[in-house]
Amino acid sequence: MLTLNVIGGGKLGRTLARLWSERGVFRIGNICNRSLASATEATAFIGAGTAVADISSMAPADCWLVAVADDAIEATATALALHLQPQSAHESAAKPSPVVFHCSGALPASALSACSGAALASAHPVHSFADPVRSLEDLPGSVVALEGDAAGRELLDNAFNALDCACITLSPEQKVLYHTGSVMACNYLTVLMDLSLQTFAAAGIDESTARTLLAPIVMQTAKNNFTLGPQKALTGPLARGDIRTVARQLEALSALTSAEHDPARTSLASVYRTLGDAALPLAQKAGLDAASAQKLHTLFNEQKP
Ligand SMILES: NC(=O)c1ccc[n+]([C@@H]2O[C@H](COP(=O)([O-])OP(=O)(O)OC[C@H]3O[C@@H](n4cnc5c(N)ncnc54)[C@H](OP(=O)(O)O)[C@@H]3O)[C@@H](O)[C@H]2O)c1
Repeated sequence: MLTLNVIGGGKLGRTLARLWSERGVFRIGNICNRSLASATEATAFIGAGTAVADISSMAPADCWLVAVADDAIEATATALALHLQPQSAHESAAKPSPVVFHCSGALPASALSACSGAALASAHPVHSFADPVRSLEDLPGSVVALEGDAAGRELLDNAFNALDCACITLSPEQKVLYHTGSVMACNYLTVLMDLSLQTFAAAGIDESTARTLLAPIVMQTAKNNFTLGPQKALTGPLARGDIRTVARQLEALSALTSAEHDPARTSLASVYRTLGDAALPLAQKAGLDAASAQKLHTLFNEQKP
């Protein structure tokens, strides 16, 4: 069985290591985090592997997962490259090159280019690892975007297939916009949920009631988007051209913004305006007439502070 070392056994690193260990895909070698205590916690979650305090203490492995924060990937690869250097020409000829990969959606495999003697790859699971325990159940069925050297992609294709994940291949040039698309739909949806709950709170509706009220309509909206597409899924005052309703909502949010000095609340009116304006081309495709679209555009822009 191939060995996997993990640098960065955080949310993603510990989840993948545990699933691969449980399914007999990799034998887990060493786990290295910023602190030994955190690495020890990761090995307890994984149920395998040995925590080490620094990269220079890590044993050789066939495969290296660099699952640190995106901004730390290049520096970590530089530290790993020093450690991976073969001690002699004999050692270099005897061993196959290891695979070194990261899981960032935005960065290409070349972020690891310091480890140039290894096969380099990136593998981005389109999944939110907010809660590693949940991810153990929910990751299977997700898509993983692979990019990088063929040897690395082939190994990772097999490793993720063993977790019941399907893989697609991207070019390095596609990665930033590909990842931005995923951020828009996933992370920004979470921001919208938070802004929505703040708006309900301003109306005196507690969070628990608001969540109960939102769950069915948000789920239904997501379903409509996937089955019908955004154009048919868009309903509400914008799609209907109910300009006075939109004006009343904007006025209510603007009043909140000027009354409150909470920076989170101050973004409510501006996000409503920006997204409302961005929705107009979609609403027009769905049947909103040009005159109403123009009035709404003026409304969204004239009340900007
Ligand atoms: N979370 C997601 O939903 C998700 C989804 C897809 C892809 N990804 C990608 O997965 C990667 C990891 O994200 P994450 O959410 O798992 O991050 P995370 O939970 O913050 O974990 C990062 C881990 O890296 C360790 N670390 C940071 N700098 C280090 C260094 N210089 N040397 C050794 N260890 C270091 C941290 O150690 P300490 O614990 O000691 O601080 C921590 O265990 C990122 O590239 C991210 O883009 C994440």
